[in-house]
Amino acid sequence: MKCCLLSAATLLLFAGALAAVSAPATLRQAADSDGMLIGTAVRPMQFSETLYSATLAREFNMIEPEDALKWWVIRREENDFDFTQGDEVVRFAEAHNMKVRGHCLVWHQYNPAWLSPADFTPAQLSDLLKDHINRMMKHYAGHVFAWDVVNEAFDEKGRLRESIWYNQPGIGLADQGTRYIEQAFRWAHEADPQALLFYNEAEAETLNRKADAIYEMVKDFRRRGVPIDGIGMQVHIPNLQIDSAALAANMSRLTKLGVQVQITELDVAIPVSPDKKPLHPDDLQRQAEVYKEVAAACLQTRGCTAIQTWGFTDKYSWVGSHSRGTRGAALPFGSSYARKPAYQALFEELASPSKRHNYRDSGSLPGASLPLLRFHMHL
Ligand code: G3I
Repeated sequence: MKCCLLSAATLLLFAGALAAVSAPATLRQAADSDGMLIGTAVRPMQFSETLYSATLAREFNMIEPEDALKWWVIRREENDFDFTQGDEVVRFAEAHNMKVRGHCLVWHQYNPAWLSPADFTPAQLSDLLKDHINRMMKHYAGHVFAWDVVNEAFDEKGRLRESIWYNQPGIGLADQGTRYIEQAFRWAHEADPQALLFYNEAEAETLNRKADAIYEMVKDFRRRGVPIDGIGMQVHIPNLQIDSAALAANMSRLTKLGVQVQITELDVAIPVSPDKKPLHPDDLQRQAEVYKEVAAACLQTRGCTAIQTWGFTDKYSWVGSHSRGTRGAALPFGSSYARKPAYQALFEELASPSKRHNYRDSGSLPGASLPLLRFHMHL
């Protein structure tokens, strides 16, 4: 009898120790346990900063160059491709067993000065864009598993933005609706058939005219076999407000079309003062609640496969410079890399098994199709 009590006690101790060992302690461990991607945008020039690199490798299983793959960085001159920064990001990722998202191949703004609409005919722009997509994706084939092929092509009314790629002067498909977007996706699939191809957008996370236009485009593309695998939802939140029910509804209707959704640029700005006064605890708490609601909407949607923040430390974030210093502190880690309440909220969502869908049963995912299954082949 005594021996049985002893062995039961031993077993209980062992189980407790095992649970303690296997309990996730970082965002990455929590995400890894469920085949979820937790990513962040990175600046390769910061890799030499020990705390930057150590936090990055410990907490994330996916990274995306914030700027390193954009035309204005890669192709400062028409015939000069400088992959240095992008290659540095890939090297870091592969040294730390992380996936790499590519961003972005087609954007209406922040293009280099030489790429002036006045200097090219539509036929020349078509050749130029096809060559750009081909050279970028062939260079990173096997290293970048997913690309934001086209970024921010719609305006807030759901109309296609006028742009060098659409109709000023465009690539020969001017004023033919989403045909130029379709063409970019077809070129991208030809360049790297293994890569997952995303359309990425801002302020179309909840249900609005822009989101509806994207939904209709995906429905049309899927019906006609246009190679699109997912929608990137940037989720830049400037005012501590999110309609998470509408976010979840939008995610759900898109995944039912057979594509993935990924949160690609999450940050939640709070008011900051130019004289660096301490952040208000109420703002930090509300920020944490917003991170929690956004993460929960993704984790509860079958087919939402990634949560990615746009940077991870307040020390390096676009928000401050783009809000003339009135807003900032938008990320899970503070400027000194201390975990903020937002980190804890994100961690608790990722680590709470009851709230997430185990992606290993992806066969039962609504609209599960090759792209999602191919996604699992990458994991
Ligand atoms: O590094 C140079 C610096 O040497 C120079 O002195 C300074 C002044 O011109 O510019 C610095 O480069 C800036 C770079 O950010 C690094 O801070 C560029 O001018 C500036 O244009 C660039 O802004 C980036 C912006 O996209 C445009 O490419 C931001 O970092 C980046 O966070 C932002 O990211 C976008 C996504 O790609 C798409 N979704 C929205 C998101 C936020 O705007």
